[in-house]
Amino acid sequence: MGAGETHVEAGPDVDVVAASAISAEETERLVTETTPDLSVFGPDVVAKAAEQMARYPESRSALLPMLHLVQSVEGYVSQAGIQFCAEQLGLSNAEVSAVATFYTMYKRKPCGEHLVSVCTNTLCAVLGGDAIYQRLQQHLGEGGQPLKHEDTSGTPGEPGSITLEHAECLAACDLGPVLQVNYEYYDNQTPESAVELVDALRRGEKPAPTRGAPLTSLRDVELQLAGFFPEDEATYRSHVDGPSAAVETLRGAQLAADRGWTAPTMPEKAPELPEVEKK
Ligand code: FES
Repeated sequence: MGAGETHVEAGPDVDVVAASAISAEETERLVTETTPDLSVFGPDVVAKAAEQMARYPESRSALLPMLHLVQSVEGYVSQAGIQFCAEQLGLSNAEVSAVATFYTMYKRKPCGEHLVSVCTNTLCAVLGGDAIYQRLQQHLGEGGQPLKHEDTSGTPGEPGSITLEHAECLAACDLGPVLQVNYEYYDNQTPESAVELVDALRRGEKPAPTRGAPLTSLRDVELQLAGFFPEDEATYRSHVDGPSAAVETLRGAQLAADRGWTAPTMPEKAPELPEVEKK
């Protein structure tokens, strides 16, 4: 550069940038990453989806069970699962995604063979639910790092892998603190019993829940939530059917019966409600 000449940085050549920014390999990568592979949902899954849609006057009503169906295949609701539901139901990906991200039962990350849900809502929390959750976080964590909400110990989908989550009230406050494995109940837990339970799951055992159906895997349960039960349905139902009210559940009613307490009878004619002021 000679004296007096002004150096001007050469700007990028737009054509060169355009050509190099979207190379053939990059295009291929982008297409692969943004176009989900639906091949995991084979003819059997398509047939089940059709069966689900036939159960409703409006096929779109089958969306919730269909999300459980795709979750039973992949262990979570992937982008491919969302697109599968959208295509089957004639919905947009955005509509399916809005539903899938609203409900906590639809998981957005691959889950373990088992999903352990610890109730940390108020009653269970004060009875020990918080302590159970913290103990399991430490016990299932690695390298001194506690396992976080919805993280998995082990390789997702592999035998013995466990996804841990804290859950809102599991509707078993009378038996708290409770936890669920794949939505089956384990009542009156302690940090020690919870550790024993997850250790048994990691060894491949299936400890019997306190009540309800026998323990299977998260994917099996997802299929049941989708409305498909094991071949031998009679045997399956014989495990499930039965009283689910525990002594604790009925204690109030028992006390009332023992003491002769009854609820006041409803009057023959309910008092008129006051007129609502017209606007
Ligand atoms: S607070 Fe835990 S089951 Fe209700």
